[in-house]
Amino acid sequence: MRMRPKKNRDRRMERVSSLLVLRDENGGVDIPATFGCDCRISLEIGCGKGAFIKELAAREPGRRFIAAELVPDVLMMAMEKAYDAGSPNLRFLHCNAESIDSLIPSGSVETLYLNFSDPWPKKRNAKRRLTSPAFLERYKKILAPGGKIVFKTDNKGLFDYSLETFTQCGYAVTDVCFDLHGDPVLSKENIETEYEKNFSAKGFLINRLVAVLPSD
Ligand SMILES: C[S@@+](CC[C@H](N)C(=O)[O-])C[C@H]1O[C@@H](n2cnc3c(N)ncnc32)[C@H](O)[C@@H]1O
Repeated sequence: MRMRPKKNRDRRMERVSSLLVLRDENGGVDIPATFGCDCRISLEIGCGKGAFIKELAAREPGRRFIAAELVPDVLMMAMEKAYDAGSPNLRFLHCNAESIDSLIPSGSVETLYLNFSDPWPKKRNAKRRLTSPAFLERYKKILAPGGKIVFKTDNKGLFDYSLETFTQCGYAVTDVCFDLHGDPVLSKENIETEYEKNFSAKGFLINRLVAVLPSD
């Protein structure tokens, strides 16, 4: 996500910095220090401006959420949204998903959300897709046994690619839907992201799948 540098960045970041995750001595996310309990978390990678995760955290006050984002100014905007809403069960992590398995404790994630990840359509960039085999292997380390990934995208090419990579990497793919907004059950509980609102308004169908990590 490209954007102009934000004015008053330091002051704005300072106001919301209490929403950053707390780190352990190795720089990893310290879940007990962050949430006051050694509990399972749910994680969104590439949260963008944060509308989805802020709403999900408000709907599910008993769960704990971490939203991860690569671009500092985008992360700041998501944090401001959560700060103004008062989101006690939502914290933020500035990171590149490439190092997610060295930051998030092993086996601690019950659900991982990937919403409208950058499609990287050229074959030479396939490794950058957040559903490429290398990323799916990283996620296996942080997912709890039986944990799941919920993936939404308007991009049919990325969706078809991901159907293959999830299966190839040993995830059980369930609940495949090629028109989320047209599904009477799924659409009812769906929380739209910023990109989702934009692309569905332009007539793009929204694809969604759930990929479960077998618990053997
Ligand atoms: C297309 S936007 C979608 C934003 C949001 N999920 C939505 O649906 O509105 C993709 C987001 O993923 C972030 N992103 C891309 N690659 C990433 C990476 N390797 N690690 C963390 N975040 C990443 C981008 O900075 C951007 O905010």
